[in-house]
Amino acid sequence: MTAVWTEIISLTELGLEEMKPFQHDGRRLAVFRLADGRVSVTDNVCTHEFALLTDGWLEGCEIECPLHAGRFDVVSGKGLCAPIKKDLTVYPCEIREDTVYALLPSGA
Ligand code: FES
Repeated sequence: MTAVWTEIISLTELGLEEMKPFQHDGRRLAVFRLADGRVSVTDNVCTHEFALLTDGWLEGCEIECPLHAGRFDVVSGKGLCAPIKKDLTVYPCEIREDTVYALLPSGA
């Protein structure tokens, strides 16, 4: 499997303290834009059970899962409390001009 820098979203479509779900190559992913302007791209499926994190609540750099209130740091991917036992995958990302790009796995 290779990783490819992939265009994700324009910053005009993603305000500060907003998040958006998207799909790439069969994966459910999420892009977050924090209050300080940093962006992060992560898996969007909770590592505990099946829930989409973008259906939860973003506060600072923490996302709270809508199903059992587990929390992750969306910058490091670290699980912050029970029932989370496995960290979230975070993908390298950067802003070029006003567009977010992420280095995402691609292909089989
Ligand atoms: S599914 Fe996310 S905390 Fe349980």
